[in-house]
Amino acid sequence: MERRNISFSPPDMSEMEIEEVAETLRSGWITTGPRVKKLERNLSYYIGTGNVILDEEDKTPTLFTKNLVCLNSATAAEELNLRVLGIHPGDEVIVPAYTYTATASAAIHCGATVRFVDIQKDGDKDTHIPEIDYDALERMINKNTKAIILVDIGGIIVDYDRVFEIVERKRDLFSPFSDYSDALSTLNSKIQKGLGRIAVLSDAAHSLGGSRIVKHTGKGVIFAEGKRKYAGAIADFTNFSFHAVKNLTTAEGGASTWCLPQAVYDQDVDDNLIYNMYQLLSLHGQSKDALAKTQLGAWEYDIIGPWYKCNMTDIMAAIGLKQLQRYPKLLFRREQIIKVYDKTCDQLGICHLVHNTDYMSSSKHLYLIRIPGITEEQRNQIIIKMAELGVTTNVHYKPLPMMTAYKDYSNGIDFYPNSYDYFRNVITLPLHTLLSDDDVEYVCEVLKTAIHDTKIY
Ligand SMILES: Cc1ncc(COP(=O)(O)O)c(C=O)c1O
Repeated sequence: MERRNISFSPPDMSEMEIEEVAETLRSGWITTGPRVKKLERNLSYYIGTGNVILDEEDKTPTLFTKNLVCLNSATAAEELNLRVLGIHPGDEVIVPAYTYTATASAAIHCGATVRFVDIQKDGDKDTHIPEIDYDALERMINKNTKAIILVDIGGIIVDYDRVFEIVERKRDLFSPFSDYSDALSTLNSKIQKGLGRIAVLSDAAHSLGGSRIVKHTGKGVIFAEGKRKYAGAIADFTNFSFHAVKNLTTAEGGASTWCLPQAVYDQDVDDNLIYNMYQLLSLHGQSKDALAKTQLGAWEYDIIGPWYKCNMTDIMAAIGLKQLQRYPKLLFRREQIIKVYDKTCDQLGICHLVHNTDYMSSSKHLYLIRIPGITEEQRNQIIIKMAELGVTTNVHYKPLPMMTAYKDYSNGIDFYPNSYDYFRNVITLPLHTLLSDDDVEYVCEVLKTAIHDTKIY
């Protein structure tokens, strides 16, 4: 076997992205501007959130209702979701113990207390994703619980229906925030009053393009037979990541979407109002963005609140626009690679994520495998052996209660035995669109060798 060097997740940039970035640089407008707006429309159309209509002439989407905002990261998108919802000190937010820090830290930035919940033993029975234990989640709810954040690890869409049913059952415990003294507090109060229940948030950092047949969405519509919905059009609020290692990248970047019940709109709220609040929160609370200030004589602006700075630039959006154009093909290639990995893992008796079921199609973001019966040390030996042979792997994730920042906060990993058990023998194989067929075969051979050399079987 000739040695190859396989990196974990390099960005896949074509001449299209390079040309669009060059065009943006030449255009004279590089910060938030027309390309960001166009990316928002195109993503909204792709996800199926809001009402997006197509332009008669060039068939590009024209935004009809604004249900999506592009920002500079998923972390910022999640934080702004929580701030638009109105999460404050004293509130509790439920988060799975098995996730990336951003899921929890964004809630902590808002002053909330994060309550961690363990995952199901060995993850979900169909997809094997490390999915939250829904019974434990329900037991964790109390009168301070304001939001639950679910995470679509690897791009697999989790069971939002289960959580919508739980928050419906717990309506009596929920008391909405109520403060009408300024614009943000007023919006928070109206959204919470309209929701009348704990909010369901999705950390869809991995799952752009993933879909699931669901009976409930944030709109509260119940499809008795179930209907296929895409990540971003299921939970009340969703955040996406376009970080460099993600399926679709803008180098750094992210987006927020929302999908709220009619009762929120009955509070004299509309999507433009919500959209404008995201704009304000992401740009210092400034009443006019840079583009608006360039209009003749329109220099003067107000500061509505001492807020944040996390807007997306047109240079980032230029990359995103072309990545989105290529996205169906990129997903198709990921699916081809997954089929080869599935075959190898099944032959070796290794448990792996299942990216397609009859009710769910993931975004094919990560390929997690779990080697039965091995210790953490043996897992690490396999990772080292594969690295020596040129294959970079990863671990998604070391559970948060094992991290310095969260050890005391969460009372430690002993309280999350299923998370530890899952982490102990998990390895993430490289899955990206720069892998050739020969590279994929090479990864499979290296995996077999590393397992053999670790003398496991
Ligand atoms: C599950 C999850 N949530 C949130 C994030 C944060 O994304 P970003 O780097 O765009 O803020 C990541 C990043 O990898 C992630 O894996």
